Amino acid sequence: MIRKCLFPAAGYGTRFLPATKSMPKEVLPILNKPLIQYGVEEAVSADIHQIGIVTGRGKRAVEDHFDINYELEHQISGSAKESYLVDIRSLLDQCTFSYTRQIEMKGLGHAILTGETLIGPEPFAVVLADDLCVNSDGDSVLTQMKKVYEKYRCSVVAIEEVPKDETYKYGVIEASQLEDNVFVINDMVEKPAPEDAPSNLAIIGRYILTPDIFDIIRETPPGKGGELQITDALKIQAQRNMVLALKFEGQRFDCGSIDGFVEATNFFYNKLKASE
Ligand code: UTP
Repeated sequence: MIRKCLFPAAGYGTRFLPATKSMPKEVLPILNKPLIQYGVEEAVSADIHQIGIVTGRGKRAVEDHFDINYELEHQISGSAKESYLVDIRSLLDQCTFSYTRQIEMKGLGHAILTGETLIGPEPFAVVLADDLCVNSDGDSVLTQMKKVYEKYRCSVVAIEEVPKDETYKYGVIEASQLEDNVFVINDMVEKPAPEDAPSNLAIIGRYILTPDIFDIIRETPPGKGGELQITDALKIQAQRNMVLALKFEGQRFDCGSIDGFVEATNFFYNKLKASE
């Protein structure tokens, strides 16, 4: 049973400077909704209601977003504008939110280890809010991953095919097919140059991790960029147990990049207009 979802949200978001100088990347909106709210909605769609967020300096807006703003709510109470708050109020009713701070930004693996205090000894989901995933025709990506976890009871990462010349942006896997769209990971490399990439199957920002990952991260030496990479820890886990990769159904927007952010904005804008 996956009950908890961890959101590592301590990164500096340098690709969005100067916007992220004083504003967390996670609250940048696609239309009128912050990125991290899309992520929490995806967790809820997978029936996961305990939300843990790893924050850092300058991230208070994330906490404030998942809280009541009494003055504002009093001001618009009874007016048509209240409808804008329906979705976020519903999330606040359905979820609990816990926070811990990553004091030094030592990489995604380190951020996940920092979240151990919020998770404890149980399997959990991880969502990187800047990867916005949608599947308009069926289960959310996290729901699809949860189904794979429930069948095999091991860590599961979401993957997608990327152009060969973009492998340097991702953790890239070498894997054998287990069933339709599900692969057993044999090896993985963090941000390989195209000529060193073992495939074009890239890990995106959705994980289900078994709790032994915490001890493995503790043992993992810093990798690329001097950071503790989750890819390196997953590689060790794949050698000891089994780690699966799911080629998910749906679409992912890399909202940590300007191109992906604009694509996501256009996608949701067109969807909104089509529904009017
Ligand atoms: P990114 O690689 O996108 O880094 O991190 P970033 O700092 O957010 O953005 P850029 O590259 O500087 O523009 C992937 C995810 O891991 C989290 C980030 O918040 C993001 O969700 N992260 C990364 C941490 O929480 N702590 C870290 O030390 C590093």
